[in-house]
Amino acid sequence: MDGAPAILALTEIDSTNAEARRRLDSGGPAPFWSMAERQTAGRGRRGRSWHSDAGNLFLSGGFRLDRPVGDVAQLSFAAALAVAGCLDTALDPAVVRFKWPNDVLVSGRKCAGVLLESSPWKSGVALVVGVGVNLVSAPDDTTLPATSVVANGARCAVDAIRAAEHVITEFEAWRAIWARDGFAPLRQAWLARASGLGEPVQARLGSETVTGTFSDLDEEGALVLATHAGVRRVRAGEVIFPAMDKAT
Ligand code: BTN
Repeated sequence: MDGAPAILALTEIDSTNAEARRRLDSGGPAPFWSMAERQTAGRGRRGRSWHSDAGNLFLSGGFRLDRPVGDVAQLSFAAALAVAGCLDTALDPAVVRFKWPNDVLVSGRKCAGVLLESSPWKSGVALVVGVGVNLVSAPDDTTLPATSVVANGARCAVDAIRAAEHVITEFEAWRAIWARDGFAPLRQAWLARASGLGEPVQARLGSETVTGTFSDLDEEGALVLATHAGVRRVRAGEVIFPAMDKAT
């Protein structure tokens, strides 16, 4: 085991993911975690920006892992599970759900996102795990409607440092389970809170849109769709649940 990872607390940074990448590239010790009160260039998935006002959680971990990149991508589920564990302390756990691949929803609206960025390292991967949680505010101009912990009536004080400590502890616990037992326990825990399971889904894969029913998460983390043309596995992409989008 690597020992307790260091946590670097910053006031302002372009992006905690970019900062973690610079630290990995400069050859310093890993694992580590960086958090910031504000980001001036927060990054989201698929080239989007991430709303980064003060009061929310902006956290990134840096790791060097001697594992193939395909396996390492499974840690995005560990991050989503860690965020859910943190939100459970402030909200009714029944309202905290996942949207594939690793969005965390509260009452059907996006409350947190995860961005993994990897690059080759020796025979393995230098990995950045970025976590953004809308603790006190949420943007109102996102494709998927967003919300915050406070907007959902948090039953305790919402504090970014305590939230970071909670997410890190839970992530490290899930990472240890993954290292010992593989992806299966993460898959099972994620499926228990998956939204849209058994419902119609559209997956946008580049210029192609695949329509089907969200039937499973496979042993590697791909979304399994039952379509008229048979089973399709989606490893990366954007999914839309028409039923959920109508409800929000
Ligand atoms: C998403 O689009 O859902 C992923 C959002 C990830 C945002 C976090 S905030 C901390 C870290 N630093 C970044 O620039 N992005 C991630």
